[in-house]
Amino acid sequence: MSWRGAEKRVALVKGDGVGPEVIDATLAVLEAVGASLELVPIDIGYGRWKRTGVAMAGEDLETIRSCHCVLFGAITTPPDPDYRSVLIALRRGLDLYANIRPFSAEGIDLVIVRENTEGMYSGVEKLDEEEATTLRVITRRGSLRIAEKASQIASEREKVTIVHKSNVLKSDILFLRICQETARRWDVPFDDMLVDAAGYNLVINPGRFDVMVTTNLFGDILSDVAAGVIGGLGLCPSANLGDRYALFEPIHGSAPDIAGKGIANPVGAIRSAAMMMEWFGDLEKARMIEEAVGWTLAHGVTTPDLGGLSSTKEVSEAVAKRLLI
Ligand code: NAI
Ligand code: MG
Repeated sequence: MSWRGAEKRVALVKGDGVGPEVIDATLAVLEAVGASLELVPIDIGYGRWKRTGVAMAGEDLETIRSCHCVLFGAITTPPDPDYRSVLIALRRGLDLYANIRPFSAEGIDLVIVRENTEGMYSGVEKLDEEEATTLRVITRRGSLRIAEKASQIASEREKVTIVHKSNVLKSDILFLRICQETARRWDVPFDDMLVDAAGYNLVINPGRFDVMVTTNLFGDILSDVAAGVIGGLGLCPSANLGDRYALFEPIHGSAPDIAGKGIANPVGAIRSAAMMMEWFGDLEKARMIEEAVGWTLAHGVTTPDLGGLSSTKEVSEAVAKRLLI
């Protein structure tokens, strides 16, 4: 647990689209579980950009740095070349290098540990009419710290599978070697798999995986595959961890197609709050939230994406009610 201190100060970024809907649902659950948090609302994102021309200012990042962590809904990234992704700026600005994405369903319990700062998202790119290139940057430092995180998580579980494409990409020879060395040093069982085979196996035999560690783009894609396999994006939480700060968010985006209808699934956001409580060291509250979510889903109180008839608010009320008994 990387958090020390007396007060839990949380920057609250509701964001755009369904972001505020799922975060409001999450706050009701945090209240019901009796979490004592100092919430610091931060208005950043596309809505702010449309109003003011600035999505996030330097002082916002300073305010966020004065908090222990961020609880984040979702932010719209429009396909406008003048718009800089706020989430990528936050991941960089807070050096949140490890994206942790747990997936569980019957017979499936796996965690994707995705490198969050380099790889194909290095930002070293060129685009002209005749040619476009993106430089895939894999460093020893970047690989080592994600490998450490994955081995640490695997040391409390079963094993780690290193996912790569080192038969084609030289950059992944370095990544694979560092992950293998690190797993050996931690004395955790490990194997490795080419990314295409990993995609296939996630669909046909997801139960074979425990911890998967991989580079930025592969992790981005495989985690949406894993989300599909366990029943939908709306269920899935995530943590973005650095050595000092952390950001917790559902893995889905702002879902403009259903925003404002009150039917967004709040489970991914609520589970992200459980991950936050765990990071704060409050394992009991984390467990209680997870139990209440499981109970609610098992009793068929679900939003339409899972085939249910309940609203966002009804799902969060059911979870909160379970916590209060
Ligand atoms: P999306 O995750 O917003 O939506 C994909 C599909 O899943 C849609 O059909 C949506 O209705 C559904 N969905 C997503 N969350 C749901 C929920 N909680 N309950 C029920 N259904 C849900 O991804 P999309 O459409 O590619 O992106 C929309 C916007 O979100 C874009 O501007 C994108 O840049 C942004 N985005 C932001 C992310 C973030 O803030 N972390 C992550 C992914 C996308
Ligand atoms: Mg994604």
